[in-house]
Amino acid sequence: MNLFNVYPLYDIEPVKAKGSYLWDKNGVEYLDLYGGHAVISIGHSHPYYVEKLTNQLQNIGFYSNSVKIPLQQELAEKLGKLSGYEDYALFLTNSGAESNENALKLASFHNGRKKVIAFSQSFHGRTSGAVAITDNKSIVAPINYSEHVTFIPFNDIEALKENISEETCAVIVEGIQGVGGIKVTSEEFLKAARELCDQTGAVLILDSVQCGYGRSGKFFSHQYAGINPDIMTTAKGMGNGFPIGGVLISPKFKASFGLLGTTFGGNHLACAAAVAVLDVMKEENLIENASVTGDYLMSNLAQIEGIKELRGKGLMIGIEFERPVDKIRDALLFEHNIFCGYAGKHTLRLLPSLALGKAECDRFLEALSLVIKG
Ligand SMILES: Cc1ncc(COP(=O)(O)O)c(C=O)c1O
Repeated sequence: MNLFNVYPLYDIEPVKAKGSYLWDKNGVEYLDLYGGHAVISIGHSHPYYVEKLTNQLQNIGFYSNSVKIPLQQELAEKLGKLSGYEDYALFLTNSGAESNENALKLASFHNGRKKVIAFSQSFHGRTSGAVAITDNKSIVAPINYSEHVTFIPFNDIEALKENISEETCAVIVEGIQGVGGIKVTSEEFLKAARELCDQTGAVLILDSVQCGYGRSGKFFSHQYAGINPDIMTTAKGMGNGFPIGGVLISPKFKASFGLLGTTFGGNHLACAAAVAVLDVMKEENLIENASVTGDYLMSNLAQIEGIKELRGKGLMIGIEFERPVDKIRDALLFEHNIFCGYAGKHTLRLLPSLALGKAECDRFLEALSLVIKG
């Protein structure tokens, strides 16, 4: 059997990783500013994380959600404290898309409606409901298309006013658009969205799968705007590579047996990974580090000539160029051994570990200057 060939691959085979570095099978070292797509939050193979997961596996790796799993409660309490949402409830999933599916479902159960407002260039995942609210026709199969979804221009308060009504089930927005090119949802927009959802009874969902979990320099990027969504979704950095997602649910939603469910969500190993992530984030002040190191990168990037625009917050940074970014990305990877992400044709996307240090930033800044000069 062959693999279903959907991923264009770099000819690189990493076999080891530590902190912000990877090594391939030939022993070549790479600086990782991509974090495996915003997933590596506390650094690759952090010793505390490895120990927690190893110990857990030696005791029990999995049992179903039909028995008590105290690690789930430990995770919920620690997440509530670190994020500032202690009065919200947690539903555990396995991925970002699954978190968004459950958020939409909860919203619809709650107000009995089905119309959803999403935004231009949004990305919410590839499962049925999540892809229907994703603004990319090429990944929406006919069976996934939904006439209940209206896309309006990103950050456009007037468009939201015109389209929201008492028939709207939910408004779903990323705190910072990731795939859309690191576009920050404005504080004014978030405040207006909160108000309009309150007026109409629509549920405000903040997709924090990419921009959450400390990446922006706050636990959630919408916390810069001082608003509280009704539902937040997470995944990526939550398990530092172990698949886990979560839905944070306001106390206004009532749970009942069987309303939501999953086989793997909340399993022992996933919870051990997520608890270890929160412990390290707290112990090593990684949210603060994301803020300080992000500012350091931004202010130094601003000195480099040849960049069209810088966007983002904390360690979620978009660097836009006039020219297509593919050659820049390839030169960084193959000449300077630095992994970066990209979004669209013109934007380099940085999504490193939240433990990134200044020395790593300097190595990148120097390499980028050289590559831009050609
Ligand atoms: C904002 C956002 N939401 C949802 C998803 C989907 O997450 P997953 O790939 O874990 O299903 C992604 C993935 O890139 C994302 O960036």
